[in-house]
Amino acid sequence: MWGVANSAFQVEGSPADSDWREWTKLPKKIADASDAERAAEFWRRYPEDVAWAQKLGANAFRFSIAWERINPREGEWSEAALARYGKIILEMRRRGIEPVLNLQHFALPLWLAKRGGLRADNFAELFSAYAIKVAEKFTKAPYSLRYLITFNEPMVMIHQGYLRGEWPPGDKDNAQATIEAVANVARAHFLATKKIREAGIDIKLSIAKHWRHFESAGGWLDDWAAKLSDWVFNDQLMKALVTGRFFFWMPGSSLVREEHALPGGRSTLDFVGINYYGRILTKLVTHAPFIEILEGPGPKNDLGWEIFPQGLDLSLRDVWQRYRLPIMITENGLADAKDTQRAVFIRDHLTALKNAQKAGVPVWGYLHWSLTDNFEWALGLKPRFGLIDIDYVTQARRPRPSFFEYRDLIARERASAAKSR
Ligand code: BGC
Repeated sequence: MWGVANSAFQVEGSPADSDWREWTKLPKKIADASDAERAAEFWRRYPEDVAWAQKLGANAFRFSIAWERINPREGEWSEAALARYGKIILEMRRRGIEPVLNLQHFALPLWLAKRGGLRADNFAELFSAYAIKVAEKFTKAPYSLRYLITFNEPMVMIHQGYLRGEWPPGDKDNAQATIEAVANVARAHFLATKKIREAGIDIKLSIAKHWRHFESAGGWLDDWAAKLSDWVFNDQLMKALVTGRFFFWMPGSSLVREEHALPGGRSTLDFVGINYYGRILTKLVTHAPFIEILEGPGPKNDLGWEIFPQGLDLSLRDVWQRYRLPIMITENGLADAKDTQRAVFIRDHLTALKNAQKAGVPVWGYLHWSLTDNFEWALGLKPRFGLIDIDYVTQARRPRPSFFEYRDLIARERASAAKSR
């Protein structure tokens, strides 16, 4: 599968009431003081963007549903919003593109956020009611959805929201809330998977895990910091979803330990969705939270994030070795407004992907983040992650040079895959 990824709140515009929409209205929360009221207007311009994806030669498109549109108030469902997402799916199908649908990508319905959001007592029930609603509708013809992702990057969402205070709900250094939220998301994923499997719905399920490759900044204490970070950020959640054994803890929190029966007797993940952006160097320091994270010495993108393609190879091997599940790269990309690094970035990451494949790691696909520029959360509209530039005044689309390079690369890869079949 070759393609692109985006998410509802970041591209759709005309947003419904969510925690994120409220957040953008608060002073000083968004670096460039922008909001997502228009974003890339995907909500109405999706035919144009899906057409661009087809011009790219993509055969897969990961997108997300805004929970707050489908479920604007507790117990209330919007058939009109569901119908619109149905049209988006059919637009992809018509153009030979496999939809990969994501249920929750950072934003939460406002009514739910007011009741505690990820920490609400019945979060798992509320989420799974939404999940089953979507799964039942869209697995039927003519939509015939085959891939469903429950949550995008739970650890990023939770760390930003409960440790760093940069995203809603804006809690800071709250390790206890962090672990409670992680456990609740895991319970919600379990319950949704259980309901979907019990209903006999045939669909491949996963989450999109932001996988960080952690490395020591130097000494043996820093090695230990890298291992602890990897365990807290990568492994606890993944292990829980694969084995049903919940063991959630971080310095400053109490321990959540639960045993869950695996729905249908197997891992709740049919594959692992990996969002890979780079490496993190860790250093043990004497002040709380005792681990400092640093960027590596390599070249940087517009946001100062290190570009480290080898980390993709290492991460893929790691994920395969630990969980023994096939992998889909559900995001990989960079902020690069001048588009001077993107084509090389894609090429180098694909080389890394192929190295991992040669070593026996099963990788189903590569979805680049992102098709178009979009609203980059607390960083606003300024960072440019798109293969296609958006003029936010006119909403004009203009493919960047890397769009054509990626297009040619996809064409070559798809041709050689067809030949070897
Ligand atoms: C998220 C996207 C975000 C991208 C670039 C990922 O962590 O899933 O929503 O735009 O990274 O920061």
